[in-house]
Amino acid sequence: MASSKDYKLGEHTFPRGWFMVAESAKVTDKPQGVRFFGQDFALYRGKDSGKVILLDAYCPHMGTHLAKNSTSYVAQDGSVEGDSIRCPYHAWRFGPDGKCNQIPYSSGPIPPAARIRSWPVVESMGAVFVWHDAEGGEPEWEAPFLNEWNDPTWTHWTFDDLGKIDVHPQEIVDNITDAAHFGPVHGSRTKFFENEFSGHLAIQRMGGGHRTLVAEGGPLLVTEAVYHGPSILITRMSGLYDSYIFIAHTPVDDGSSYVWHALLVRSATGQPATEADHAAARQYQDMALAAFAQDFEVWRHKRPCFQGLFVQGDGPFRLQRIWYKQFYNPRANAQEYRRQVDGVHLARGIEGAPDDMREASHESLQIAVNA
Ligand code: FES
Ligand SMILES: [Fe+2]
Repeated sequence: MASSKDYKLGEHTFPRGWFMVAESAKVTDKPQGVRFFGQDFALYRGKDSGKVILLDAYCPHMGTHLAKNSTSYVAQDGSVEGDSIRCPYHAWRFGPDGKCNQIPYSSGPIPPAARIRSWPVVESMGAVFVWHDAEGGEPEWEAPFLNEWNDPTWTHWTFDDLGKIDVHPQEIVDNITDAAHFGPVHGSRTKFFENEFSGHLAIQRMGGGHRTLVAEGGPLLVTEAVYHGPSILITRMSGLYDSYIFIAHTPVDDGSSYVWHALLVRSATGQPATEADHAAARQYQDMALAAFAQDFEVWRHKRPCFQGLFVQGDGPFRLQRIWYKQFYNPRANAQEYRRQVDGVHLARGIEGAPDDMREASHESLQIAVNA
């Protein structure tokens, strides 16, 4: 697999930011083992608080995986107690803070080293997000949330779990600057296209036809795709319905990614969504998934692109890859990368987004523009 080093991304193997690690609905008090960032974790929902807890997987006693067991009586009886979890091997119990809070057979003191790392997680829009930071710092921005999530005229998404793909995240992120793939892959006649970078955000504004998502001669498909940090892409799309596409990719090992896709859809009438609106939303999500599958198939079979042979008319790949490096380097240096790329960038030969669209986008994303 192509590694972060191969792409010369920076000092860290895995980027800093918020990453989806699970669908909320699938996290219960039955712990599950998950793997991201080259590490194994135990993931469960605390019984007292109802909160999602993500701990390093391996018990400091003798290295047992806390979540991958079904036969030990600890596991059979339920290893989650309150918000704590018991190791299936010798039943040491760890709190949501990762500290061992009981060793049932030992009357001696609990050694301070009897602790594992507890990771900062939040639940938002049906997903569980973890803040990953190789330097162990506090979150630099909030996990994304759309106000439409709480609006009854919008139908909630259910996630398409696309599983693990042996593709480095860089190849997926490249898509945000890929002006020239819309025609060949999605059948779009691109009317306008631009990118903007602003701090931890990377934005693509695009308008055109789309053979997969809009019928021939149908309305112009206008999209504003925003990377909120290195891994969570939320695209506002106006076409057949108003909708938001959600795509999250989380590094599993160096060179592989786990991918989810979903669609939040506004009812056609603008009234609270009915059964019929929910059904239409599900169908529209399937269409959006078919469009995403067109990108996915290319990624699945391509060889890594460490250095593209870019030409006039290609989007600003080089700048996007500089933007992306901020997440692979110490936070103290992030500004160096941002300074090089912040602002609006056009692909030569294609018009940029209309002024009113760009202005509305700046307002909603709270991007300050110097006059
Ligand atoms: S290995 Fe976990 S309690 Fe012994
Ligand atoms: Fe695409």
